[in-house]
Amino acid sequence: MRLLVTGGAGFIGSNFVRYALGRDEVSELVNLDALTYAGNLASLADVEDDPRYHFVRGDVRDGELLDEVVRGMDAVVHFAAESHVDRSIDGPQSFLDTNVTGAGVVFDACRRAEVARVLHISTDEVYGSIEEPDSFTESDPLEPNSPYAASKAGADLLARSYAVTYGYPITVTRTANNFGPFHYPEKMIPLFVTNLLDGMKVPLYGEGANVRDWTYVEDNCAAQWLVLTEGVPGEVYNVGAGNELTNKDLTFRLLEALSQDASMIEYVADRPGHDLRYSVDTTRIRALGWAPQHDLEEALAATVTWYRNHEEWWRPLKASGASQRRGTGERPWRWLGGRDRRGSGLADPRGPGAPDRRRPLV
Ligand SMILES: NC(=O)c1ccc[n+]([C@@H]2O[C@H](COP(=O)([O-])OP(=O)(O)OC[C@H]3O[C@@H](n4cnc5c(N)ncnc54)[C@H](O)[C@@H]3O)[C@@H](O)[C@H]2O)c1
Repeated sequence: MRLLVTGGAGFIGSNFVRYALGRDEVSELVNLDALTYAGNLASLADVEDDPRYHFVRGDVRDGELLDEVVRGMDAVVHFAAESHVDRSIDGPQSFLDTNVTGAGVVFDACRRAEVARVLHISTDEVYGSIEEPDSFTESDPLEPNSPYAASKAGADLLARSYAVTYGYPITVTRTANNFGPFHYPEKMIPLFVTNLLDGMKVPLYGEGANVRDWTYVEDNCAAQWLVLTEGVPGEVYNVGAGNELTNKDLTFRLLEALSQDASMIEYVADRPGHDLRYSVDTTRIRALGWAPQHDLEEALAATVTWYRNHEEWWRPLKASGASQRRGTGERPWRWLGGRDRRGSGLADPRGPGAPDRRRPLV
């Protein structure tokens, strides 16, 4: 199999490149990545001498380049994206550019080159928040609540349109939160672990009540491989290990793993529009034969050990300011009912008496 991976220098992408090169059926793997702040070739140092592996530095929005790199490919896995919700709140434009326009360029190059299998990596965040005990199935409507999630939902809908309009099926996976090695230390788990290793406090949003389903990245790579090779083309598959934890519970597990206590928690102002709970029904991918192989506690312990043993990987990233990305910069304007926070007294843009459909902020 000749395989193109976009975004292969990022967190999940680099783990997936390593996973795919572990498979005999991969005869060639091209990793196309723009190397934004989140892309890091150091994450792939151990595979760079593999004769099947080739790196191309480039942008997924570059149509000519995409035409060139997809030529002759049997399969394409599209990971490349802007992925940090806080950054999307600070400035959505790059999310629209890469996550919507970029995905469109990738899909269209694949269609014209008649690539046999295309897998688009999406997120459980496209569904929005759901109350316990329910979980979203693949046919539920998309109700994204952050610019990041909205941009990912845009690409999901574009993928759907390719099947209907062109008869060109693009498969989509909607994946829950991942954790593991090579995770950029602006995201919760690597930020908290590396802060604690340095004796620094960990910034917990709001009261820490938000629930996420945590999947070890190796289990996710196996899921993506299975969907790529055995999934029904054009189908959507939810992926999640079912490890639901509040952010507070997760924080206490990390504190315990690093022999620290609650005094290391610093409660910070909540993220605007912070979804309370993500939860996906994974019946479909489990019917395909996937099940997570890693126990949450062991995988978290392995992740802590990895960061402990790989300071050379994360210290330069933290020195370049990664850890300052928890929390948005200036709070964007938000309707607070009556008056906005800056006291402009502007009328509600939705009209007088408009119902408040926002999900509760925690
Ligand atoms: N990390 C998670 O928990 C999670 C959960 C669900 C879905 N996802 C999705 O999985 C994918 C990978 O996520 P991640 O956490 O590894 O992200 P990441 O931010 O770690 O990596 C993104 C990679 O894409 C590259 N990239 C960004 N813009 C590009 C462009 N215009 N052209 C080419 N390359 C570009 C970056 O250089 C980087 O290597 C994303 O599509 C994300 O939406 C992630």
